[in-house]
Amino acid sequence: MTEKTLVLIKPDAVERNLIGRILVEYERNDLKVLDMKLMKASIDLAEKHYAEHNGKPFFNRLVTYLTRSPIVALVLEGENAISRVRALNGTTDPETSKDNTIRALYGLSLSENTVHASDSKESAGRERSIWFAKNYS
Ligand code: CMP
Repeated sequence: MTEKTLVLIKPDAVERNLIGRILVEYERNDLKVLDMKLMKASIDLAEKHYAEHNGKPFFNRLVTYLTRSPIVALVLEGENAISRVRALNGTTDPETSKDNTIRALYGLSLSENTVHASDSKESAGRERSIWFAKNYS
């Protein structure tokens, strides 16, 4: 099934000039870049994006981190894109993420973990509409 998913290349990655190396991982795996922008996220966008974590002890840290310097927002499309992108990214904590996943290769910590990807069809739709005004249908 062809799916679209939302990816953020987070501040720690853009700061360390990793955009190209991360895009290579997706493109090599037949994921098509449908849309892409470099931007500094506002607090409002970051809070919307992480709404499900509002109230958790790390929420403020997450929002401060995501808004501290530019990110790259991407819409990727491909066969089973949602689960495949999450497999390429690896698990949340870079320390325990499988070898050669993006987070194992480049992640710094649980908070500064280099990339974000939608975890379901519903969150992919929600997150795409947060970061991109366009409707991809
Ligand atoms: P992400 O995939 O962007 O979605 C939620 C983020 O919350 C996650 O990546 C982590 O960076 C962050 N996160 C999850 N659990 C913790 C935690 N216990 N402490 C700090 N950050 C966390």
